[in-house]
Amino acid sequence: MYFAAISAARGFLLLTLLLAWIAGNKASLLLFSSTEANLNRKARKLMTWAVVLTLSSAGVVGGIAWLMAITDSIFWRDRLLIPPLLIVPTVMIWTVSVPRLRKIRQATGRKTNSPLDLRLLVRASQPAIIAPYQFVALGALTGMYWTFTTTVPFDIWNGAIPLILLLIAGMALWLSHLNRSSRISLDGKAPANRPFMRLMRRLAVLVVAIALGSVPFYSALKASRLPETVSMAEGPMDNGSGMSLAHHNHSEAVTASAEPVKEISVDSLTGPAEGKPDVSYTLTAEKKTVKLASGRAVEAWTYNGQIPGPELRFKKGQLVEVKLANKDIEEGVTLHWHGLDVPNAEDGVAGATQNAVMPGETHTYRFVAEQVGSFWYHSHQDSREAVEKGLFGSLVVEPEEGMPADVKDITVMTHLWDNHGIAIGDNDGIQHIKIEPGTPVRLRLANTDDWIRQTYKLLGTTFQVAAIDGTELHEPGNLNKVSLDLITGGRYDVTFTMPDTPVTLNVGQGGKLGIVMSPDGNGELPKHAPNLPVFDPTHYGTPTSTPFDANSHFDREFTMVLDNQLGFFNGKLALNYTINGEVFPNTPMFMVREGELVKTTIVNRGAVDHPMHLHGHHMLVLSRNGEPVTGSPWWTDTLDTAPGEVYEVAFVADNPGLWMDHCHNLAHAASGMTMHLMYEGITSPYTVGTATSNHPE
Ligand code: C2O
Ligand code: CU
Repeated sequence: MYFAAISAARGFLLLTLLLAWIAGNKASLLLFSSTEANLNRKARKLMTWAVVLTLSSAGVVGGIAWLMAITDSIFWRDRLLIPPLLIVPTVMIWTVSVPRLRKIRQATGRKTNSPLDLRLLVRASQPAIIAPYQFVALGALTGMYWTFTTTVPFDIWNGAIPLILLLIAGMALWLSHLNRSSRISLDGKAPANRPFMRLMRRLAVLVVAIALGSVPFYSALKASRLPETVSMAEGPMDNGSGMSLAHHNHSEAVTASAEPVKEISVDSLTGPAEGKPDVSYTLTAEKKTVKLASGRAVEAWTYNGQIPGPELRFKKGQLVEVKLANKDIEEGVTLHWHGLDVPNAEDGVAGATQNAVMPGETHTYRFVAEQVGSFWYHSHQDSREAVEKGLFGSLVVEPEEGMPADVKDITVMTHLWDNHGIAIGDNDGIQHIKIEPGTPVRLRLANTDDWIRQTYKLLGTTFQVAAIDGTELHEPGNLNKVSLDLITGGRYDVTFTMPDTPVTLNVGQGGKLGIVMSPDGNGELPKHAPNLPVFDPTHYGTPTSTPFDANSHFDREFTMVLDNQLGFFNGKLALNYTINGEVFPNTPMFMVREGELVKTTIVNRGAVDHPMHLHGHHMLVLSRNGEPVTGSPWWTDTLDTAPGEVYEVAFVADNPGLWMDHCHNLAHAASGMTMHLMYEGITSPYTVGTATSNHPE
């Protein structure tokens, strides 16, 4: 609906621009009518054009009204600038142009074949007829500019400069028509109709406009180049406010803290430095050609020569030590524990919490796992490329006492290898697993792929979604015939008791990729997975108490507006994916203090989904599109916001540091859709930028 509404508004705007351009052109050529009859006909046609432009403009206004009817004002308040730009000139057409056209039609009512006399020439060339049509085109052009660049929060100059240019262009048009018209009355005859000269004149205007525009264009282009070195601990800040969807203003802005906060370096926020680890792993990053089950070879970047990397599995409370070595990945590597809220220095983000580990180097991570659940790890250096090529693996934290011995625990990581062919782990076909009836089964679904919203269909049994993003749900009910859609980075744990008959997990459209579980190890994957409704976590399970809820007092409130904007990124003109109107490194970081309760409203005004991932914290989802979450508390670390959606989430700032907050569609992150959460007083010795070896995305 949202997408349809914005598309309608944009489509009609483009249509209006084209039509008004044509109509304006026709109006300005009226005086070149060869005969009175010809002028009479052209005047009539222009009156028809008035109707056409009115309808098309009404389409734009209708699209915006539709948007207003179905969404919160944050989706359209800036777009309210557009209707007046179309309505005013349209009204001018009807009140100024049309009456004059009517007079011309009366004067030429006899439709003779005689050429226009001076009186008719002057009438046909008056600016009052021509300019209003052209003003519609100018208005539509300005509207188009705003549609692709206007940001929320609204930037006054982005609104004012096009308006000023619009006024100047409108005045220039009017004056040039006036000039031509008075020359006609002075000369007593029509000017020569020279289309070539007209074209040349227009080209000249275009060239001048481009020349004038190129100065700010190139300086903005240059300014957008990524800096050589920049510390993520410094830069523009957003201190939050009491800003909510109900009243958009910054009046309650939280000012910088009353008492200064002691400075702490990211480097000192490590896990336990002393003590013998309970579990230790060594992960060596290396390039390797790896074969999938089908025999297809993948030029991979691996941990320990395998794709995905080895599963890391340990128990809550254990001290874990992971030694990372880089054999030959020239781009550098790190290890980030996606969804596991470790101390900041162990978070593994190149340029934020450590330097990228270059070939021949090592880095050791030490932490105690405090959560139980399904997570994953991946490199956070050049992560778009690294994850795509295989630098990731499964990470499972079991309860202190371990998983019950009888549980069949199956990890399902779906990934697209080499840009074609999705696989579960390294198996790009159908797997068969023999499971005794009555066995409790836990499938740990994780979508590690970049673009895809992966669809999983579990057929042949009722089941529960036991956990989302590593957090158990409260009293999850039985599900049957629902599709589980996972966005990139997200995890669902699915549980069921093995029946006597086969159960199939179908990935994608069915028939090609999946798991057949059966008592005898046989069975078929259905050729076509049925169409099923999609699982909705907002009304699933039952409520239980949480440390805070939607009615709590929030110390900070932030708004995160996701959008597409025409702009500049790293020296290129691009349709950027923006957060609060900006791209990395210009997006203001969210500032918090330890202990605060923080609420964030995530709004997607763009055209595609954005699964936003906050490091180091789990967010409690409070509401979606104004509707509270009524089932089990839903904690997430990677939350997808679809176009037109608004989510309210909250978390406790209980893990000091510098924490990335980015779209986990890593291609979006790499093109600037990344920002961070920053605790006051935190400093970082690390830098990112073109002159450094740190490129976290
Ligand atoms: Cu899974 Cu910042 O990433
Ligand atoms: Cu995105």
